This record gives sequence, structure tokens and C-alpha cells, in this order.
Amino acid sequence: MNRIAFAALAVAVITGGALAQTRTYTPGPQNIELPADWAQRFVRYTTVDKPDRKIIRNIYINPEAFAALRPGQPMPYGSLVIMADQRARLDAEGRPLLNGNGRMIPEPAFIAIAVQQKERGWGEGYGPDLRNGEWEYARFNAQTGARMEGPLNACFTCHLQARAQQDFTFTTWDYANRAR
Ligand code: HEC
Repeated sequence: MNRIAFAALAVAVITGGALAQTRTYTPGPQNIELPADWAQRFVRYTTVDKPDRKIIRNIYINPEAFAALRPGQPMPYGSLVIMADQRARLDAEGRPLLNGNGRMIPEPAFIAIAVQQKERGWGEGYGPDLRNGEWEYARFNAQTGARMEGPLNACFTCHLQARAQQDFTFTTWDYANRAR
């Protein structure tokens, strides 16, 4: 083998190895990265008032997935859905204040961030009582953006039991399938 052929082979071996590396998947929240610019770049497609918990949930999706949502179809690969909660502003008796449209009024800061992301090949390794198709879940600290430790089984079981027929999503499916 001449030197050029050998160099080409070496490059093929190295890049082949790197590709195999990126394809290695281990289930868990470490697969999900919170993009630094999500609050500027993502589409806030809905907000949900939770009067019982006195919070407002802002639900965002990456613009690429937003553009690819289709009624009756599973969520597109690459969907990254971010749910960022805010405290509701309260009256003197501790009840949520409402604006002219009857919606709750948020305090500025985010207090919790929950994420679900779908990628081709994800989900492998979860048992049938947990697996949500190709979705992973994660929680992030709303102040620092750091991924939070702690069990996520409740995320999987609730979304599985309630929404397996809606590709494991609540508001995302409903948004894609709402009458327009
Ligand atoms: C008891 C049921 C339940 C559990 C547990 C749960 N969720 Fe959800 N999730 C919901 C519901 C219901 C919604 C729709 C918004 C709402 O009404 O609060 C939702 C919405 C979401 C959304 C917005 C996209 C969508 O599907 O509408 C994300 C992201 C999400 N949940 C992530 C998580 C993560 C991460 C966990 C675990 C830390 C979790 N959820 C635990 C019920 C649950």
C-alpha cells in the first residue's frame, strides 16, 4: 500500500470510529441539551394556566419542529419541547390575579424547566412500563440552566399512560391537531 492510500485508510478508520461513537446511545436525561438561546429562538405555541398550583406554564418548541408539525402525524424527529413555569401574581388573599381576558398574570422569573426531546433511535433500553417511543425527558434549573439530578420515572409513566396515542405529548399534539 502506498502512503496516500494508507493515509486515506487511516482517515476512514478514524472517522468511522467517531461516527460509531456518536451513534452509541445510553438512555437517560444526559442526552438532552438545553440550548443557550432557547428563550429567544423557540416558538412559544401555548401557555397553560394552573390555578390550583398558582403557576403559568409556557410551552416552547424549536422552530424546525414547529414548522414540521402535521395533524394526525407523530411529532417530527428533532422535536425539543420546553415547558417553563412562572409563578402567578396573587391578590392580597393569595388568589391568582386575572387580566382582562381571564388569564393569570405571570411573575417575570421562570421557576422550573421540564423538557422532552425525540430523536431517531432514542428510547432503546427502557422497559415497556416506561418507554415513551423515542422520547427522553429532563429537568433543568431555571436559574442556572443546569440539568437536574433525580428520578424521571413519573415523567415517563404519566405521559405514557395518558398520551401514548398522541405521541406521548399533551399540548404539542393538541396544537398540531387543533382546528385551524
Ligand atoms: C401526572 C402527570 C405528569 C407528570 C408526572 C409529568 N407530566 Fe409533563 N405534562 C403533563 C400534562 C398534563 C402536560 C400539559 C400541560 C399541563 O396541563 O400542565 C404536560 C406537559 C409537558 C411538556 C410540554 C409538552 C407537552 O407534552 O404538552 C413537557 C416538556 C413535559 N410535560 C415534560 C415533563 C417532564 C420532564 C416530567 C418529569 C419531570 C413530566 N413532564 C411529568 C403531565 C405530566
